[in-house]
Amino acid sequence: MRLALFVVAVSLASGPVSVGLCATTVDYKEDVEPILQANCFGCHGEKKGLGRLRLHTTDAIREALDVHDDLLTAGKPDESELYARLVLPANDKKLMPKGGDPLSKENIATIKKWIEEGGVFEITADAPMDEAPAEKPKLPERPELGPASPDAIRAVQNTGALVIPLYAGANELRVSFPSSRDQVTDETVALLVPLAGQLVELDLSGTKITDASADSLKQLVNLDTLHLEKTSIGDAAVAALAELKYLNYLNLHSTKVTDAALESLKPVVSLQRLYVWQTPATYDAAKALEESTPGLEVNLGWNHPGVVRERINSELARVEQQQKESGDAMAEAEKALATAKKDKEAADKRAAELKRKLESLDEPAEKKLEEANQLEREQPADEGNAA
Ligand code: HEC
Repeated sequence: MRLALFVVAVSLASGPVSVGLCATTVDYKEDVEPILQANCFGCHGEKKGLGRLRLHTTDAIREALDVHDDLLTAGKPDESELYARLVLPANDKKLMPKGGDPLSKENIATIKKWIEEGGVFEITADAPMDEAPAEKPKLPERPELGPASPDAIRAVQNTGALVIPLYAGANELRVSFPSSRDQVTDETVALLVPLAGQLVELDLSGTKITDASADSLKQLVNLDTLHLEKTSIGDAAVAALAELKYLNYLNLHSTKVTDAALESLKPVVSLQRLYVWQTPATYDAAKALEESTPGLEVNLGWNHPGVVRERINSELARVEQQQKESGDAMAEAEKALATAKKDKEAADKRAAELKRKLESLDEPAEKKLEEANQLEREQPADEGNAA
């Protein structure tokens, strides 16, 4: 079952259908990069870096973030130049792409959603250095789920919910409230309990739910993906999730959850992605939870001081490594230069010696030749004399 789900998730994410159907997450590589590539890389890419901005690789974006403070603010498109520049009035000189047609509404929406979701993290998270990827933990497998009761589905749909199968023909359900968020209360969540046997993805973001939903949430034992961001839930609701043994993705951004909530998630070994930016949760608690849960990534927001420190530290480690390597190379080169100098001096000396020897050989030979010539000149005279 897990495999089937996985395949579907992948195929949905790669097609254009993903935006409508599976609106949970925007992926940088799949969804955002192609837009930037088609519209921005020409001026902000490998060849050109207009406005001191290059966007063509995640590393380039990471570098740009250090130079342009307001390029991306996770969760806040309006405070992110990368988005804000796309939605300016047509006659504004700062509108991007500069001098071209504005991006399509869909593309703008994708970029906006990406920033809202904090998907920004995938590019701002530490670039993996040379270390091998951590081994994927073995996650509990959800058993085959039976079909939902049509009455239970109808009761939920009557609240304005969108109830859809996870993929065509699946019993697994995804529930969200795209057009009725502000009418969704703790009572609405209670109506979901009869669907607990099928409900695997639930989006309650931006709704009116409170910690009073804890009891209902606790019973949604098959949940894999849960969005609680931008609600007034707190630690009590999160504590109720401790027994959800298939929970993989949990979004708590912009809630009042604290370190206590993170602590209470330690038993959820299936958890792989947790978003807690714009919450009182601390860096240390996030790290502690990551360490206790194999494979888990806790996202605090790229501009969280702890995260910034970590990013700078890892960059510093890279630069220091380079410093050391260049220093070593210089020392090697200096050594080689000294050796070469010595060799040359020795060779010069030897060459001079040899030349001197040659000359000393030549001297007598020349003398002898001269003597011989001398003789020859004298002899005919002798002969002549004799004759
Ligand atoms: C035809 C060239 C061109 C294209 C295409 C283009 N830009 Fe620009 N961009 C510029 C120039 C020039 C500047 C610097 C002047 C300015 O700030 O307006 C700039 C500046 C920017 C800045 C401000 C950087 C800063 O100073 O903080 C952002 C953000 C930006 N562009 C985003 C984009 C995005 C996103 C796209 C694609 C949708 C894009 N640009 C497409 C030319 C271009």
